Formats: sequence, C-alpha cells, structure tokens
Amino acid sequence: QPPLPNHRQDRAAEESAAERPSLPFSGTLPSFTNEPDTDPSLYANQAWARAAIARSAAPGWLDAQSVPPTLAASDVDDLVGRARTAAVAWSARPAAERAAILYRAADLLSRRRGHLVSIAAAEAGKSVAQSDPEISEAIDFARYYAHRALELDRIDGARFTPDRVIVVTPPWNFPLAIPAGGTFAALAVGAAVIHKPAAPTPRCSMAVLEALWDAGVPREACLGVFPDEGDAGRALISHPDVDRVILTGASDTAALFASWRTDLRINAETSGKNAMIVTPSADRDLAIADLVHSAFGHAGQKCSAASLGILVGSTYSSTRFRRQLIDAASSMVVGWPTDLAATVGPLTEPPSEKLRRALTTLEPGESWLLKPRMLDDSGRLWSPGIKDGVAPGSFFHLTECFGPVLGLMRADDLTEALALQNATDFGLTAGLHSLDTAEVRTWLAEVNAGNVYVNRGITGAIVRRQSFGGWKRSSVGLGSKAGGPNYLMLLGSWADAPASE
Ligand code: ALA
Repeated sequence: QPPLPNHRQDRAAEESAAERPSLPFSGTLPSFTNEPDTDPSLYANQAWARAAIARSAAPGWLDAQSVPPTLAASDVDDLVGRARTAAVAWSARPAAERAAILYRAADLLSRRRGHLVSIAAAEAGKSVAQSDPEISEAIDFARYYAHRALELDRIDGARFTPDRVIVVTPPWNFPLAIPAGGTFAALAVGAAVIHKPAAPTPRCSMAVLEALWDAGVPREACLGVFPDEGDAGRALISHPDVDRVILTGASDTAALFASWRTDLRINAETSGKNAMIVTPSADRDLAIADLVHSAFGHAGQKCSAASLGILVGSTYSSTRFRRQLIDAASSMVVGWPTDLAATVGPLTEPPSEKLRRALTTLEPGESWLLKPRMLDDSGRLWSPGIKDGVAPGSFFHLTECFGPVLGLMRADDLTEALALQNATDFGLTAGLHSLDTAEVRTWLAEVNAGNVYVNRGITGAIVRRQSFGGWKRSSVGLGSKAGGPNYLMLLGSWADAPASE
C-alpha cells in the first residue's frame, strides 16, 4: 500500500521546508481551493504559535520591520509617473505570467505565516486565532484573482483595458488580508499599485508587499508609501494620472476622497452597523454562540461585526436567554496576544470618541446587561459589554462604534425586527437565527445588506464562497464584491461590443 498523503499540518515544518519550484508560465494553474487555517489542536502548531507570539513580543522586534517611505506632496508627481511607466511594462506581460507570480506570492505568504502572525500581533494586537484566518484569506485572494485574471484575459481580453495606476488604501482592522486583496486584484489585471497603508499598521502592509516583490512583481509596479502630515494624501488621491482608488475604511473617508476629486473612480467598502435577529424558533444555544463570536471577536473591530442583537418576542423577554447570553460573553477570555487562550483581544488603538461613548454611557432607556470594564492602563483592553433596551433611532442603533459592545433591541415580530435591522444607513452584513423556513424566506426577501447569513455568525467571509461587500452607505461605486467572480472586471474600462452585422 502506498502511504496515505499526510494532511496533518505542521506549520513550523512547512515553513522550514525547501521552497517549491516556481510555476512554469504555462497559463495553467492548479485548481482553486481555499487555503486551510492552522489547526490549533495539534501540539506542533501550538508550539509554532507560541514561538511566533514570543518573537513579536521581544523588545525592538517590531521596530526592526520595514516601513514604507514617507511621501511629501512635492514627490507625488514623480511617484505617479514612475508607477505609470511601470504599469506599461507590467500590463504588457502575459496574463499567465502575472498569474504565476501571484501564485508564487501566495506560496511565500503561506511559508511566512508565522512571521505574519508575529507582525499582526505586535502591530495590531491581533491574536493568532484572529490573524491566522486572515492570512488564509490573503493567500486565497492571490490565487483566486490569478484565476479570474486568466479567465478575463481569455474571454474578454480584447475589450477590457485595465487601469494603469490604482491607489490602494486598506484599513487597520484586517491589516493583512485587505491590503492583500486590493493590491493583488489590481496587479492581476495589469495595473500598477501605489499602496498607502493604514496609519496604525504599515509593517503589516509592507510584509504583504515584500512577498509580492520576492515573487517577482517589479518594485516600481507596487510601491508602498506613507503620505506625510501635509497635503500628500490629498495630492495623491487627486492626481489626474491616478485612475482609481480602492478604499476599505470609513464611509466618511470615501466622502472626503470624493470631495477632493469629482471625477474620482473609487471602489470603496465602507462602514457597517450590523444586526443579528433571533426569533423564538431559533436554536438558542447556537444563536448565542454566534452572536457573541460575531460581536466580540477581534474586540468587535470588524466592519462585519454584530453590533446589535434584535430579539423577537419571547426571546427578548426570556430570563434564561439573557442569563445564557451574559454567561457566554463573560466566559470569553480577554487578553493580549501573548495569552493564547484569549478570545477577545485589545483594541488596536485606544477608543475613539464614538466608541468611548458606547462603552461608558447609557442613552435614554438603556441599561447594562453586562458592563464593559477597562482592564489595564493602556486603555485598549476592554471586557465585552452588552447594553439592553437600545431604542429605535438612538445613537447606538444607528452609529458604527467599532468595539466590544453589543446592543439588544426588542421587536414584536419579524416584520418589526426587519424594520429595525434595515433602518440604518448601512447594509454590510446581516444575520438571522430562525428554524422556521417561512421566516427565513421572508427575511431573505426583505433584508437590505450585501452579506446575509442564516443560522451562523456574520463575520469571516471566505473568498469565492462568500464574496464580500455591502449595500447603501457600506459601499461606494463598487457594484461587485471582493473575493467574488466579477471584482476584477471593475478595475478598468470596457470597449463597446462590436456592432452585430
Ligand atoms: N471580510 C471580513 C469578514 O467577513 C470583513 O468578516
């Protein structure tokens, strides 16, 4: 008998194995499969995670990691010109060659998973449990967009002209996957990227760019820069030779960019105020587990996080449901990434004004079911909070606060619950827990959100399976979703179809 393939992961062994040979530029890629997350139940992987975290906590380690060069407003013309020149050569390379380079970058990210875990912990305060799936997602983006770029080239190459220069401005809450997604998409179609990292997480972005350079992307086709305090950011976004901006961040930032330049082409994934409805027919144990996981994972700092639980009828009035919810939230371990058992990590930065209000203030009609506590002097570590009695139209009902606070609202029936869920300006993620198929059908027909989830958590979309993007003020100019089949088609312009004879 030949030995069975060994599917047991051992991350440390994988990372030290000899590099696989690069793929030939044949235009044929292996079929796409999602990269598996690290299995934390294996002892070898626990040791690997401990080593990655210990490394990141060593004094001076983070300071030794690369940061992007600072960009002054007076450098912007030159920078954009260089990117444009690089794009001419990059887009002239066969799509298969670019795809193979992206595949190689995916392999490098996979081999550097431990290093990426270290950077995300040191720079963003991310636990291994939170950064590990993010790294899988970054790898998925590289491979999936490589596949899609080849298909686009084969099917529509004659009609599609890619953008030349795309500015990518990712957020700090997913400091690896989202910088990777926008950058890989742009490179896959043949554009050059000017990558402006989020202020708190420049080293995470640089680690992604380094994998690309090492895989064979010319440096000039993928530049990492950090605009100085002056007008450099505005000069960059407003530059007429920048064809497009891929932004993931606050909807106010998208509006600011648009105010700088009226003809700006922008693909923006922006804010959310997401709710999960729980009806009396739900599996309550499952609903509670999904609610706390979606609300408090990465301390609630996900645009996809559940910020509201809308409890229908007897679910709201059930003392048992409340007790169970309090137990579930208070059983979460709050801690820094060095505590591998922690399920709620620190905030990446001390609370914003909005979040401080949510964490410390009750609005009329509200009461604490579980009062959040600040656990150390950093101001970044907070235990989960649950506020009851959030009123329709109130501050907490309508405002994205981006932290470990869940608000509960009462609805008499599903119709009222849907009205509350749909009432915000945003429409990113939404959830329903119900075992009644009629309710599920009604909800799916009525809910206004880009990513909708039934009987599961509402965070953690997976490339190709659950492409990600919102409705209403949760997206600007997108019309398609990241990690989905049509995303690349947005990054260029289309010639009219030839007139039929
Ligand atoms: N794509 C991320 C999620 O689904 C934001 O949680």
